[in-house]
Amino acid sequence: MDETTNINWFPGHMTRTNRKIKEILPLIDAVAEIVDARVPVSSRNPQLSELIADKPRIVLLNKSDMADEACTRDWIEFYKTQGIKAIAVDCKSGKGVGNFINGTKELLSDRLEHYRAKGMVGKPLRIMVVGIPNVGKSSFINRMSKGSKAKVEDRPGVTRGNQWFKIDNELELLDTPGVLWPKFEDHIVGEHLAFTGAVKDAVVDIEHLAVRLVSFLGKNYPEKLKQRYKISFDEQFDSYELLCIIGKKRGMLMRGGVVDSERAAIMLLDEFRDGLLGRITVESVSFMGEDNAEF
Ligand code: G4P
Repeated sequence: MDETTNINWFPGHMTRTNRKIKEILPLIDAVAEIVDARVPVSSRNPQLSELIADKPRIVLLNKSDMADEACTRDWIEFYKTQGIKAIAVDCKSGKGVGNFINGTKELLSDRLEHYRAKGMVGKPLRIMVVGIPNVGKSSFINRMSKGSKAKVEDRPGVTRGNQWFKIDNELELLDTPGVLWPKFEDHIVGEHLAFTGAVKDAVVDIEHLAVRLVSFLGKNYPEKLKQRYKISFDEQFDSYELLCIIGKKRGMLMRGGVVDSERAAIMLLDEFRDGLLGRITVESVSFMGEDNAEF
């Protein structure tokens, strides 16, 4: 049971999105990239750096309420070493989102200064918000714009179906014109996104996915697993057996006393996604291999 999960992906028309983003670039001052703080590598679009070229970028580690705080701090430090400003946010409660405005104005202080010096008073900073599906892009935009409608104005990039949101007199947000996908051909990426629920269960083998999650949790967060399910195991655990032990603890038995491992799998994944096992980061900074070293 230890081969990797095979996930079917539907990449969509990335070329169209890429073209639209390129069209938009001259209109914006910076990019706000939203990632899932639990899987900051897998929840990125691998082409983004190339796409946005040298536009300043601010990274929002969203869903930080569900991520391991120490790992999130490491990620912020990591980004700093790359010259990128990263902020931990929780768009569900709103925690940390307030730091975005100041963080962005700080990041673009030269540009704001330039606008002021040129007498371009009232010219706002324009930020394009990007992120793969499910990272919390809409939640973030809704929080920032406080539900105010997108403005429609007669200027290039505004009328062509792009959604601009006025945040204050100095800041406007633009929703991504299209869909950005993760690195869908990489099965580890698919698996990690499936752990978080970003990939729908209909396209994965749920039992196998749960076994992989047990394997990860047993190695990286054994105490959380032990506490949640009141079980004990040592370092040599077998992941499938452990899933069955968890199912048995929850009374998920079929006729003949056999554990219903599929029910156990669904339960474990649901509880993990609901944060009931605690704050867990699947991809810490050390997860980032050579392939992902380019931010
Ligand atoms: P998207 O536009 O990038 O596709 O993502 P969206 O905002 O729709 O968010 C996807 C899911 O993630 C939503 O849950 C949303 O509530 C949740 N979410 C967004 N930000 C955060 C966060 O910081 N913390 C937590 N814990 N959850 C967050 P859903 O189950 O699809 O809907 P619902 O629970 O809002 O009904």
